[in-house]
Amino acid sequence: MFVPGAPTASSRTRIDLGKGWMEEVSRGRLFPLYANRAVANVHVLLRMDKERKLIVAGNWKSNKTNSEAVALVTDLIRELAAVKEVDVVVCPAFTALSDVSKLILGSNIRLGAQNLSDSGYGAFTGEIAPGMLRELSVRYVILGHSERRQFQKESDALVAKKAANAHANNLIPIVCVGETLAEREANITEKVVESQTRGSLAGLTAEQVESTVLAYEPVWAIGTGKTATSAQAQEVHAFIRKVIVSMHGEAIARRVRIQYGGSVKGSNARELLQQPDIDGALVGGASLESKGFVEIIKNSI
Ligand code: PGA
Repeated sequence: MFVPGAPTASSRTRIDLGKGWMEEVSRGRLFPLYANRAVANVHVLLRMDKERKLIVAGNWKSNKTNSEAVALVTDLIRELAAVKEVDVVVCPAFTALSDVSKLILGSNIRLGAQNLSDSGYGAFTGEIAPGMLRELSVRYVILGHSERRQFQKESDALVAKKAANAHANNLIPIVCVGETLAEREANITEKVVESQTRGSLAGLTAEQVESTVLAYEPVWAIGTGKTATSAQAQEVHAFIRKVIVSMHGEAIARRVRIQYGGSVKGSNARELLQQPDIDGALVGGASLESKGFVEIIKNSI
């Protein structure tokens, strides 16, 4: 059945069917499902589609010199020029931000940094203040990555302070949470993820939480080649969203984007990103080559 005015089913779309949650509709399945449900209407469809646009970010970690970063982003700009359905973000090392920023000007690629100071300008040797990133048109900052939690001993409280600093300076934090293998095996995944989520978002207003991007990254899946199954990941994502419901209510929780991270690659991206509560990916290893990163993005549409 043709529904006048309905968007084409070319992108991954979620619609609220009035059951308190959403059903995923992907290419080719939109119209029959749409026609079957009296409660679905074009306005809901368009609104929901905008509420949680997919976001795929490449976390280059401590890789790529400035010239290597320039070469990689030059390829990405060319390969991804037509992509509109996904927010594409690259997060190079600080030393490459300036040149990458100039190159992506006018493209559909956005810039992220891998950390942010919890303070402003001043006597904080080695720290990067928000204004330094803003001047380079950095839009996102990755905070609380498990590697920083592990090697720099970053606490939830520090992550929350950095997240507040990001919001106060118009930067969008990508806040990472995730359990270790030992924690998963001890059956305390939910406990760990809940306390990280609450702790790392503590003190943020509902509005700030709504625009924060969360990244669920099981530590045992990062850089190991082991990926959580789509069912395992979906279960934790739905749980994190429930935690946000209890913190700030359903309307806010419904709009928060939650990325999955941990050995995401072209071959597993589609299945992971088709899960109803997975709104994108934070990609490490596979984002270091344009082919791998482009494949993930194309497979997620
Ligand atoms: P990976 O890293 O894709 O190499 O597992 C993900 C991350 O640490 O963000």
